[in-house]
Amino acid sequence: MSVMRIPGHEHQGPREVSLQEIRDLMGNCQLCPLGATRTNLVFGVGNPHARVMFIGEGPGRNEDLQGEPFVGAAGHKLDALLGCAGLTRDEIYIANVVKCRPPGNRNPKPEEIEACAPFLREQIRSIWPDVIVCLGNFASQFVLRTNAGVTSLRGRLHQTGHFVVCPTFHPAACIYHSEWQPLLEDDLRMVGAWLAEHPAEEAR
Ligand code: URA
Repeated sequence: MSVMRIPGHEHQGPREVSLQEIRDLMGNCQLCPLGATRTNLVFGVGNPHARVMFIGEGPGRNEDLQGEPFVGAAGHKLDALLGCAGLTRDEIYIANVVKCRPPGNRNPKPEEIEACAPFLREQIRSIWPDVIVCLGNFASQFVLRTNAGVTSLRGRLHQTGHFVVCPTFHPAACIYHSEWQPLLEDDLRMVGAWLAEHPAEEAR
């Protein structure tokens, strides 16, 4: 399977910092205004040794209340779609571009993304997944360092430094645009095929 290479992440390697240490560093984060309006900071959840990391946009209402990513309607949709990649929720790690809910589920602002970025970068370096699945525009643009939209990025795998990146639609978007769901399923099948072609080199 051909993978498109994007320069930019070669200079950074994995880090022996644990997710708990990163969470502790965030503490009661007030680096952006979202800290004042959140109920819970939604750090991320899942397997710290995941081969596949999913990145969403930001917590919604249910996630803000429960402190876990993708537990609401978008999460149910995601759970139902993971099988397309041959994955289960315990095998993956899920985080968001911003860790606190933007009020009324508005889009995160550039300064909020900027404030949260070091924590997501550290999560990625701690987990050091083989594949990053970017759900929607915000995650795709963050990871691939582009302003291009997910519609033009999706449908193929990209490589940036160590990571194979699959930009795809956000599952919440597929609730309103049901015609996008088969495309999201195709993208996840592509991830499953890549994983099958590249078995883990060592037990993780
Ligand atoms: N949408 C996201 O992008 N992230 C969540 O955690 C929930 C919904």
